[in-house]
Amino acid sequence: MKKFTQSSIFIKLLIIQFLAIVYTCHGFDFFYFWPGSLCDAKRACCLPTSGKPATDFGIHGLWPTFNNGSYPANCNANSPFDGSKISDLTKELQVDWPSLTCPSTNSSKFWTHEWVKHGTCSESVLDQHAYFEANLNLKHSINLLGVLQLAGIQPNGKVYSLQSVRGAIKAGTGYTPVIECNLDASNNSQLYQVYLCVDKSGSKLIECPVLPKRKCASFIEFPSF
Ligand SMILES: *[C@@H]1O[C@H](CO)[C@@H](O)[C@H](O)[C@H]1NC(C)=O
Ligand SMILES: *[C@@H]1O[C@H](CO)[C@@H](O)[C@H](O)[C@H]1NC(C)=O
Ligand SMILES: *[C@@H]1O[C@H](CO)[C@@H](O)[C@H](O)[C@H]1NC(C)=O
Repeated sequence: MKKFTQSSIFIKLLIIQFLAIVYTCHGFDFFYFWPGSLCDAKRACCLPTSGKPATDFGIHGLWPTFNNGSYPANCNANSPFDGSKISDLTKELQVDWPSLTCPSTNSSKFWTHEWVKHGTCSESVLDQHAYFEANLNLKHSINLLGVLQLAGIQPNGKVYSLQSVRGAIKAGTGYTPVIECNLDASNNSQLYQVYLCVDKSGSKLIECPVLPKRKCASFIEFPSF
């Protein structure tokens, strides 16, 4: 009898904790990376085994995030990445979510990492297939490269003001992005990651509740890829 009571308390606590994560989560932070900046920085890149991706932003990931800016991670060890659950998306993922780390991989290692670390924390809202599909849908509907090009900002190795890059994304999407830079081989500040925030459904952009500090010079290069 006593044992039974203890285990039911344990189950209740688990449920409360689980609800707490869902309820305090503001939604997602969505990250895009610019492959050209990965490749000409000091940390070299390697093309995925599926070949050179198109000249476009890649997906870094969709991260469930709390309102205070911290994020839960590795939420369900019993939910491994399962490529067979997303086999209908593999072709698109190879194009839109390539891995450029060395040595070359077929990118599924990158997808595995993002699912295990971040995707498992929003599993009650987006199962594995829905998680990857939400990433692809966001990338296609936002079309970040198109939004920048519309404002005359091209990946051509030229330098643009940080303000103009931010302004172009705000004008094109309606929401304020956070821009992150890295350094190229000659130590010039360059566009590396763009991040936007998404609501709890993983489909609609929102203003970021907290803007993390990211370093960029006031003029940044947009390298070609
Ligand atoms: C942020 O909020 C979450 C959820 O409420 C909490 O678990 C975490 O400790 C908070 N982190 C910080 C740094 O305040
Ligand atoms: C990628 O490589 C992994 C491990 O070698 C393999 O299990 C998986 O089937 C491959 N996926 C694709 C899409 O080629
Ligand atoms: C870039 O900066 C690092 C650290 O400040 C320095 O060691 C290196 O020499 C610099 N490289 C160039 C090409 O200026």
